[in-house]
Amino acid sequence: MSLDALKREAAARAVALVRDGMKLGLGTGSTAKHFVDLLAARMKAENLSIVAVPTSEATRAQAASLGIPLSTLDETPELDLTVDGADEIDAALSLIKGGGGAHLREKIVALASKRMVVIADETKAVATLGRFPLPLEVIPFGLAATQRNLTKAFAQAGVIGEMKLRIKDGAPFRTDSGNLILDAHLGVIPDPARLAAHLDAVTGLVEHGLFIGVASGAFLATATGIKTLGNVA
Ligand code: 5RP
Repeated sequence: MSLDALKREAAARAVALVRDGMKLGLGTGSTAKHFVDLLAARMKAENLSIVAVPTSEATRAQAASLGIPLSTLDETPELDLTVDGADEIDAALSLIKGGGGAHLREKIVALASKRMVVIADETKAVATLGRFPLPLEVIPFGLAATQRNLTKAFAQAGVIGEMKLRIKDGAPFRTDSGNLILDAHLGVIPDPARLAAHLDAVTGLVEHGLFIGVASGAFLATATGIKTLGNVA
């Protein structure tokens, strides 16, 4: 089975969690895109009444094109369930997110939800986070100074690595909020909570891609079937 087919399998399992009347958070990325597709199909087939808050402009456009009723966290500040992909997931359900540059809104939406369920193919499961470069959304003002403080935060947290400004189509990548992304190549993050605490203290960093204690469960699609982590009930 292709990786894309595995992503769709995981998304299909998460769509089965949806109940009539739910307020949903919609993630971003290729796996979340399958979820949005399958959700729209199920809503149509079963005439479900759902309202959804997207985590990016891309997901907003996709959901709107499929006729999914959309809301904002201002109108709907508490959600029942957010379903989103991840770049890495460990056994404790700690995540690295932000490969698509949407982790700021993804974290706000996930934290506004009673539960977050991750959908991913098995290649995202790791013993230790850090092989995937950690996305750091930063304010453009004072970038070099913020970068120095991030390097200090890495040292305080016992990790080391290079940061690279994310480039897309030959220009610095801009998030939906107009910020820049630094991708931190750390290799391993032995204590993600410790690193998150040090990063949280850096002014100029808007949000990092570590999601600790945010996801309640996960569907991981493997070649031999779906593996469940945590609580997906
Ligand atoms: C976007 C994200 C995505 O969830 C993450 O990059 C996974 O994407 P994909 O499902 O395409 O592998 O965090 O900011």
